[in-house]
Amino acid sequence: MNMKRTKVVDLINTSTPTEVLVKGWVRTFRSNRFIALNDGSSIENIQCVVDFETLEESVLKKITTGAAVSINGTLVESNGKGQKVEVQVSTIEILGESDPEKYPLQPKKHSLEFLREIAHLRPRTNLFGAVMRVRHTLAYAVHSYFNEKGFFYYNAPIVTGSDAEGAGEMFQVTNLDLKNVPKTEEGKVDFSQDFFSKATNLTVSGQLEAETAAMALGQVYTFGPTFRAENSNTSRHLAEFWMIEPEMAFVELAENMDVAEEFIKYIIKYALEHRKEDLEFLDKRLADEEKTKPAKDRGDMGLIEKLNFILENNFKRVSYTEAIDILKNSKPNKKKKFKYLIEEWGADLQSEHERFLVEKHFKCPVILFDYPAKIKAFYMRLNDDGKTVRAMDVLFPGIGEIVGGSQREERLDVLMAKMEELGVDKEELWWYIDTRKFGTAPHSGFGLGFERIIQFVTGMGNIRDVIPFPRTPQSADF
Ligand code: 4AD
Ligand code: MG
Repeated sequence: MNMKRTKVVDLINTSTPTEVLVKGWVRTFRSNRFIALNDGSSIENIQCVVDFETLEESVLKKITTGAAVSINGTLVESNGKGQKVEVQVSTIEILGESDPEKYPLQPKKHSLEFLREIAHLRPRTNLFGAVMRVRHTLAYAVHSYFNEKGFFYYNAPIVTGSDAEGAGEMFQVTNLDLKNVPKTEEGKVDFSQDFFSKATNLTVSGQLEAETAAMALGQVYTFGPTFRAENSNTSRHLAEFWMIEPEMAFVELAENMDVAEEFIKYIIKYALEHRKEDLEFLDKRLADEEKTKPAKDRGDMGLIEKLNFILENNFKRVSYTEAIDILKNSKPNKKKKFKYLIEEWGADLQSEHERFLVEKHFKCPVILFDYPAKIKAFYMRLNDDGKTVRAMDVLFPGIGEIVGGSQREERLDVLMAKMEELGVDKEELWWYIDTRKFGTAPHSGFGLGFERIIQFVTGMGNIRDVIPFPRTPQSADF
């Protein structure tokens, strides 16, 4: 009879003795007797006990860290400490050998920097296994939240002609021969000969397309990869990241903030409920890491404690104008400790300011709203004061900006004037303008940086460690 494989996650909570088939990768092999086997289904390994006296020497030699094996045996209660159950091995088949001399993942602690160089193998570590399972669970929670709320999942194109954010941070998409680029009579690149007969780029945001959908389906969200060619080598920027962008018809700024807060809390709660073991592991990892820091730099909350804190407290809503007053009079501003000093209303906020507000001043997540029009994108709705727009950014401890959003400018004349003023290409965006011509209505939305929320939930300090294959300036391996 062909037996069905049982996953480790299901084995570790079984207590009745049974015959089992288990497959996985050897994490360690101790005393020629104890295999710690992991199959990725859980942070836990299953201990498999072999009888080396009956096992062929040639097989025994191949049970090494990294090897893939298939084991038939009996699940029994374990006498050893550290596990409730173990598998008494009756037969073991080596599915794939691993050279213990050359296998880069030795059973010891590796640095995160080193693990980035072997991004194809790092999910086999406890840490990256946990992070990737949390990533999955958060993605699932995103869909779950919006589905429950009656939003429709909408897919914006990845190749586009437009620059939604107007920041010019786009990667061009072309199949022109770069060694022999066709030119127009004026000496410019002749994009009419390019694949799409026009200049195209990778999307920086699916928002504009989502807006068109909100004007038809009412409530939609995108969840896809976005690309930014900004040369920011920080622990919070990727050139390729995933963004979740809900867009809602008949919704104004205050409700937009309500949804953002409810949504973030929902997915964090979902992860706490469905990824307990992994989060406990990550909690402990962070605590160990904190211990290596000087006392003054240590966080005052553990990871899980911090996640619960988010769930239990309201996000503080503060206008940009209030925030500027707080920052202007703050200690680091007066003592010239900020790299960018806040001198007057209108200044763009840097991450040092955002983090001061969240971590030092309010000590809770903050939603800043009503920013100066000058420092925000063209599509945000102008307030009656004529100088601020209905923007909102959600700021989180340790991360800074996690969400950026706004109520949209639904008035055709105001939008057109703004596009004119900022030099936004009206011809390229004719379809976007159409939504304001035909049945325009107040609407709002926001974008959550998926990797930034994963950073927050896992406690990982560097955004490169929460996406399988990070793309950053000078780096696109794998
Ligand atoms: O604030 P951003 O640029 O807003 C937008 O793109 C809007 N179109 C969203 C909307 O209203 N639909 O980006 C939104 C979020 C940021 O708050 C941040 O969390 C994340 O996306 N983000 C990045 N994450 C990783 N690497 C980068 N380079 C990021 N740039 C933005
Ligand atoms: Mg932003």
